[in-house]
Order: sequence, then C-alpha cells, then structure tokens
Amino acid sequence: MKILSLPSSQELALKIANRMDCKIADYKSVRFPDGEIYTKIDTPLEGEMVIVIGNTNTDSNIISYLLLLDAVKEENPKELIAFIPYFGYARQHKLYNKGEAIASKVMTKSIDNFADKIIAVELHDEQTLNYTNKPFINLKIKKPVFNFFKDKGIDYVISPDDGGYQRANDMANLLGCNAYYIDKKRIDADTVEMKLPEVEFKNKNILLLDDMISTGHTMLNAINLISNKGAKKIYCCAIHGIFAENSDKLIKEKIDEIVVTDTIQSEYSKLSVADEFVKLFEK
Ligand code: R5P
Repeated sequence: MKILSLPSSQELALKIANRMDCKIADYKSVRFPDGEIYTKIDTPLEGEMVIVIGNTNTDSNIISYLLLLDAVKEENPKELIAFIPYFGYARQHKLYNKGEAIASKVMTKSIDNFADKIIAVELHDEQTLNYTNKPFINLKIKKPVFNFFKDKGIDYVISPDDGGYQRANDMANLLGCNAYYIDKKRIDADTVEMKLPEVEFKNKNILLLDDMISTGHTMLNAINLISNKGAKKIYCCAIHGIFAENSDKLIKEKIDEIVVTDTIQSEYSKLSVADEFVKLFEK
C-alpha cells in the first residue's frame, strides 16, 4: 500500500502511514511560469493499493488534488482510494435557487472520475453521498472528541443550530450529560434570531460542538448568548477548523479553549482523525 498526499495534509498523512506501516510516495508538483501546475509521480504504483489524501477547500488544492489523482490512475494501481479529510465545496449540496451550480455534485463527480472509493470526514450534508455510484464513506468522529472532553466535567453539549443536534446528542450520551440546540429563526434577509434552550447556564461547563468553524459567526453568536448567562467554562469544538476571517482569534478571546481535528491542520488541531480512518481498513 502507498500513500500520496497534498502538502497541506502531510502531517495527517504521516500519522496514517505510521499507523498502517506503509510508505508515503514521492511526487513532484511545480508551477509553470504562467501559474499552471505540473504533477509527476516518482514512485511505481502499478498493482498497488493507493490512498491519495487531500482537501478540496481551496481552488489550488482542488486542481492539485485532481491532477494527483489522474497521475496515480495513469500508473494502474490495484485500487485508488480518495481520502478527503475536509470535503470543501460541500455546503452547496442542493439547488436552493434556480440557476445555481451544485458545488458538492461537481466535486464528487470530479473525484469519482478517478477514484474507486471515496472517504470523507463528516460531510456537511449526506446528500453529497448520492452524487456517485462508487462506495463513498462519510467518516464520523466521536471517540477523539469524547476522549478529549471526558474529564472536563461537561454539563451540556450544545449545537449552535438544530442541524447539528444529532452530533451533540451522540456526544452528550457518551459524556453522560444533556444535549441542546440553539433555535435559529430567520426574521428577514439580514436578521437571525437565536434562542437558547431554557435551562440553567450559571456555573455550568459548556461544550459547543459543530461540524465546522468557518467565519466563526455561528460560534460567536452562540458564545455571546451563553456567556451572558454566566457559564463557568465554554469549550468550542468543531470537526473542521477553517477559521476564515481570523475567526480563531475572535473566538479565542471569549472562551476557554478551541479544539478541532487535523482534517485541516492548525494550532487548534488537538484531535486526530487518523485512528478512525485506519480502523476502516482493519479486518
Ligand atoms: C451550519 O449549517 C454549519 O453546521 C456551521 O454551523 C456553519 O457552517 C459554520 O459557519 P460559520 O463559522 O461561517 O458561521
């Protein structure tokens, strides 16, 4: 078995390679003077099972990843597994308004051209799974989150919206506490009303849990509401830490700790998805 990875997923790729006792294969990726990317595999892959790791969160990552998949495919591997820890462009997973592109369909179909199997971590919406007929696994991350928070005396796990309630409830069941969600109501195009559940927050330890922190607006709104109620500690945990608009800095100054996984590597990547990924290959 061989692993190839985009540079931005290199740390996670190394953890996976160590756990699977396999090698990371070299490849060359350079930019032509006009900015286009050239990709060349330097390791024979014929007949091998190959895992290609990369996120689809930036335009540059997307083209690099597709070129790498093509280069691997051209080498005739036995099986090509596309592992996309953070499946970017998944938030537009359906048509909201006539005339829109369905980004998650475009992304899935592009990867499906090359891969025999696709594995992603906590997709924004499972509708994305329907855009391919190939095996597509949506890996859920529970154990690393549980292990991190099990001794922190969490009183409530709160999802910042109803869509994430199942994740919060699953974690609360593991931690032996209650789960709630913040009720979001859109009043008009510019105004969203957020309502906390009617429980006591004073002196409670709160775990705010979501699939991702992007601009951080969702988390910041939730934090503001909860800290006004006198919570003792507030932890913010998300599977994917995108941290657009320096949202990590804004969140950090208002709470006790930010915790995310290494699907997107950052200083807050205190949890790893490597073990959960490797478990998929254990017989
Ligand atoms: C919403 O459906 C998601 O679960 C997240 O709450 C949202 O995508 C976070 O985005 P942002 O950090 O930009 O508020």
